Amino acid sequence: MSAPATRIDNIGGSLYRIHTPLPPAVLPGGFSFNQYLLVDDSPLLFHAGPRGLFEAVAAAIATVMPLEKLRYVAFCHVEADECGALNDFLAAAPEAQALCSQVAAMTSMNDLADRPPRALADGEVLELGAHRVQWLDAPHVPHGWENGFLFEQTTRTLFCGDLFTQPGAEHPPLVEGGIFEASEAMRAAMDYYAHGANTRPLLERLAALAPQTLACMHGSAFRGDGGAELQRLAAALTG
Ligand SMILES: [Fe+2]
Ligand SMILES: [Fe+2]
Repeated sequence: MSAPATRIDNIGGSLYRIHTPLPPAVLPGGFSFNQYLLVDDSPLLFHAGPRGLFEAVAAAIATVMPLEKLRYVAFCHVEADECGALNDFLAAAPEAQALCSQVAAMTSMNDLADRPPRALADGEVLELGAHRVQWLDAPHVPHGWENGFLFEQTTRTLFCGDLFTQPGAEHPPLVEGGIFEASEAMRAAMDYYAHGANTRPLLERLAALAPQTLACMHGSAFRGDGGAELQRLAAALTG
């Protein structure tokens, strides 16, 4: 990942999307990695990103706020694009902590993270200042026993990780349609879902939150009726 073309865009209020396209020459078909920065009294980064992107993501954050003020580095499950650069951020920001599920802490982060993680129980709410985030356990949806999502209640933003993964390298920061179709095309070629027994009820629980922004890890973020998009996804996966 040499000289990544990382950019940062405000996508509403205090929320920023950091986007790194990987062109087809780097990854066949092209792909992209996003991190989301929520600026508040306790600033939160959702997804650390891969280790190889740390310098680029850190530089993007530094254009908006001092990197050393970062307080939480949250992620859905334990994979390189979710938390590969976690320890680099913990080193750069002395108060920063990993924020993850209790299962993630137990199985991985109590060992992998250079400082103890903050593990959230299902439904637990964490105040960041003007914003508050709620942790929602979602084991195996789309994958990983330890998987879960964060919902920011004041802006109705669901940090939805790998849900609605869109292929290709270049994506606008925020769109109002097309993420379901793009991610289903991707899933037809590369199905990254575990298809567990709880897939449908867990997606319907997310839909019931009525998110207005879906902060996707790969591709564009979405603004609109996030609940309807999640219901379409649930039907496609289990219908
Ligand atoms: Fe993943
Ligand atoms: Fe991912």
